[in-house]
Amino acid sequence: MLTAVLLSALVCVALGAYQPPEAIRKAAYSNVHWSVQTKAVTALARRLLGASAANVSLTVNGMLHWPTDAFTVFAVGGVVNINATSGVAAAAGLYWYLKEFCSVQVTWGVNGTGVQLALPAQFPTLARVTTRPSPNLFRYYMNVCTVSYSAAWWDWPRWQQEIDWMALHGVNLPLTFTGQELVWQQLWREVGLSDAQIEKWLAGAGFLAWQRMGNLRGWGGPLSQSWMQKQAALGVLIAKRQAELGMINVLPGFAGHVPSALRLFYPAANITQSPNWWGAPPQYCCDYLLEPRDPLFTKLGKRFYQLITQQFGPTSIFNSDTFNEMLPASNDSTYLAQTSAAVAGALAAFDPTAVWLMQGWLFVNDPGFWSQQAIRAYLSGAPDNNTLILDLWSEAVPVWSKTQSYYGKPFIWCMLHNFGGNRDLYGDLPVLANGPVLARAAAGSTMVGTGLTPEAIEQNPVVYELMTDMGWEAAAPNVSQWLGKYATQRYSAAFATPGLQQVWQLLLAGAYQSPYMTDSAITHVPDLSMPTHSQSLQNFTLMAQAWRLMAIELSGLTAPPGPLLYDALDVLRQVLTNLFEDARHMHAAAYKEYTAAGNQRSSQAVLHSLRGLGALISSLITDLDALLATNPNFLLGTWTTAARAWAANSAEASQLQFNALNQITLWGDSGEINDYAAKQWSPLVADYYYERWVMFLAAIEYAVAAGTPFDATAFDNTILTRDLAWNYANNDTVYATSTTGDQLQLSALLTARYVRAPQNAFVAVGGTSVASGDRLYQTRTLTRDVDSLGVLCVADPECGGFTSDGLFVRRGAQPVPSGGVTLYVRTN
Ligand SMILES: *[C@@H]1O[C@H](CO)[C@@H](O)[C@H](O)[C@H]1NC(C)=O
Ligand SMILES: *[C@@H]1O[C@H](CO)[C@@H](O)[C@H](O)[C@H]1NC(C)=O
Ligand SMILES: *[C@@H]1O[C@H](CO)[C@@H](O)[C@H](O)[C@H]1NC(C)=O
Ligand SMILES: *[C@@H]1O[C@H](CO)[C@@H](O)[C@H](O)[C@H]1NC(C)=O
Ligand SMILES: *[C@@H]1O[C@H](CO)[C@@H](O)[C@H](O)[C@H]1NC(C)=O
Ligand SMILES: *[C@@H]1O[C@H](CO)[C@@H](O)[C@H](O)[C@H]1NC(C)=O
Ligand SMILES: *[C@@H]1O[C@H](CO)[C@@H](O)[C@H](O)[C@H]1NC(C)=O
Ligand SMILES: *[C@@H]1O[C@H](CO)[C@@H](O)[C@H](O)[C@H]1NC(C)=O
Repeated sequence: MLTAVLLSALVCVALGAYQPPEAIRKAAYSNVHWSVQTKAVTALARRLLGASAANVSLTVNGMLHWPTDAFTVFAVGGVVNINATSGVAAAAGLYWYLKEFCSVQVTWGVNGTGVQLALPAQFPTLARVTTRPSPNLFRYYMNVCTVSYSAAWWDWPRWQQEIDWMALHGVNLPLTFTGQELVWQQLWREVGLSDAQIEKWLAGAGFLAWQRMGNLRGWGGPLSQSWMQKQAALGVLIAKRQAELGMINVLPGFAGHVPSALRLFYPAANITQSPNWWGAPPQYCCDYLLEPRDPLFTKLGKRFYQLITQQFGPTSIFNSDTFNEMLPASNDSTYLAQTSAAVAGALAAFDPTAVWLMQGWLFVNDPGFWSQQAIRAYLSGAPDNNTLILDLWSEAVPVWSKTQSYYGKPFIWCMLHNFGGNRDLYGDLPVLANGPVLARAAAGSTMVGTGLTPEAIEQNPVVYELMTDMGWEAAAPNVSQWLGKYATQRYSAAFATPGLQQVWQLLLAGAYQSPYMTDSAITHVPDLSMPTHSQSLQNFTLMAQAWRLMAIELSGLTAPPGPLLYDALDVLRQVLTNLFEDARHMHAAAYKEYTAAGNQRSSQAVLHSLRGLGALISSLITDLDALLATNPNFLLGTWTTAARAWAANSAEASQLQFNALNQITLWGDSGEINDYAAKQWSPLVADYYYERWVMFLAAIEYAVAAGTPFDATAFDNTILTRDLAWNYANNDTVYATSTTGDQLQLSALLTARYVRAPQNAFVAVGGTSVASGDRLYQTRTLTRDVDSLGVLCVADPECGGFTSDGLFVRRGAQPVPSGGVTLYVRTN
């Protein structure tokens, strides 16, 4: 067996040259007794494995002093032994063993549909003691927004699942924000504010993330006292469980955002109104900021730290962001340095050894203000040994590499990945596999960890499995090989056929090499010139291929594991929304080319095209909804029912459902952040989005038939009025929490309808080219998939065929042989 000394040496090599300050190292170390951690992780194993947990021995050994988390695994005779530095490390060891040797996966999914736990009859032997140290002092989890976009309505059983997920995935630094409102209320009550004054400041239950950052106030409120109390009680359970597992809770810190009424109690204090973050009316915008250099800042801050730790227990790391998406009053270097010094100072006044965790998002969000000089000045005010920075979007816009590793402050390489809970397939797997390794090895690097900072979770699990693996990998894995194992773990050895392995290689090539979000136009207000969010980010051709291959693998399967059904829905969903994208571009082209000068087409011909394409567009939306309705992970009812469950009475239930619906639609009192957190959920798609598109299709047809231009402004106003009416009318609508229809049967039907061209509808002619005048539309499709092109052509009665490079030809066009592309001529 390896000795602790040897392990120590190994870890130092993995960590590279950078030695984090002593205070940062100490902050990462859990003071919870090892026996408590052993008990907590043993209970986790029982929740996960049931009776089989009797064969697993997990020990957190307080005698081992390793510089970062590490575990050892040894399995013989069906008994698995894991020793680890912390509860989290033991859980990570258990998950590593189960993934590598038993091919399982544990991830998100309603009703356990994200868990594939087909264990072998006996735990496989691992006769050589295997040691795995993490190269990261910290593995961080959650964005300040995740709490609202995903976890707003979670109860304790759901939180317990998430904490188990965190531990198994090796997270040791979770953001612990739930229930803090009761503490804020206590602080402001002590100052003398009335509950009514406090109420105007706090936001509604669906919008707390942004109120906490000072971006808004009041919207969606008021919060009931019982909500605050129940949330605080939940927060205590969360903080306690995380601590027992050896995690370091990141509690909220004091950033200076205060209620307007504070000015009445401290008339001499420098309290200024913040900019309007979201273009909202005065009562919802422009929170107040207590100038950090004001002596009151330290006084209130220190008291807040006392109260928050009294409520949720002691910890060593606190998060606060004074200028998240809001600019400071001045870019003067001295001012910036004094500001951060004051924020750090308030924390130090409470506990000189505590660490300030800062999100680096402000630097990404406004690079115009945050020049290197300004960043340097701001960081210079905070001590190197007590400050930790989240490089928040490392996979797309790293800031560490532009700031000489934050000018010496330790930072965490974070994957942000998701905005607003959008569900399309995307993520940059190659960068996730390589980025953290390269950043750690970079000259002068001060990287001390990896992290996940998605605005929302419960989507694209592949991205999160790889990124959490990177918490424990010192070298970059080969993504293609990694995906091979991933498919087996996700579907089980029995279901992971070579065909499904191949599907994942196609998905890697077609969707998982871009960090930028793709986002279906279905969930946005229809607009003739709306760009394709996914243009050039996703390969429509490969997605259609991937789905057809997957459909073959699925045919005839009985009782496939939940994760396979989830992926089957997600891939077909993506293929349908991609087809929608091409169809709506053709529809827009029909209208725009008709209204352009020199148009040759009659209004009758254009109406034929518009009606045919319109029928495809609207049927795609209703069929998408029907598909979503077959799987428990895509139901609106899960979200609204969980929101209502927190209510103390029916009026509060209505208010909570209003919050739940508003966040995912209008996001504000008049669509200030409209559709940002849109969801492809049933029946939201068939109800909310479908009606918008039908109104749009009708308005365009009307314009052509009447010979008047389409009035986009009037249309947008009509839609906004309708959207508002919808939001206010559905406070008490009951949305289903159970599925409708058979997913695989419906998938087969939709595949025949949309992913395969009708038999014998086209004849291929090689070596042709299509003159500009013969084109039906001047724009090309995003897909080059011959079947998808066939489906699109058949939808448009004016279409006489298409070329392999994505052009449609008019009926009766005479293509010229010229050795170019293949022409598919319509036969009917
Ligand atoms: C775990 O630690 C115990 C002592 O605490 C030791 O007996 C055992 O061999 C260790 N197992 C492994 C796999 O390191
Ligand atoms: C559990 O351990 C016993 C021996 O103690 C062994 O017979 C049995 O097969 C093990 N079960 C599993 C699931 O490995
Ligand atoms: C109050 O603080 C702002 C910066 O936030 C500063 O510009 C202003 O001069 C201060 N006012 C006073 C009276 O100190
Ligand atoms: C941080 O560094 C400062 C200056 O070097 C020192 O005075 C202070 O004690 C250090 N704090 C901790 C917690 O190590
Ligand atoms: C502050 O802003 C001014 C005007 O935009 C600019 O010229 C100056 O370089 C900025 N200073 C810093 C420290 O970024
Ligand atoms: C990754 O593995 C695949 C399959 O084994 C191999 O073809 C490929 O060359 C490898 N890629 C790299 C970068 O090593
Ligand atoms: C999609 O992938 C295919 C097959 O690899 C490739 O030929 C094509 O160029 C890709 N299309 C786009 C738009 O990247
Ligand atoms: C729905 O709830 C919101 C928020 O509580 C409220 O403003 C609105 O009046 C309610 N709508 C109806 C129709 O009662």
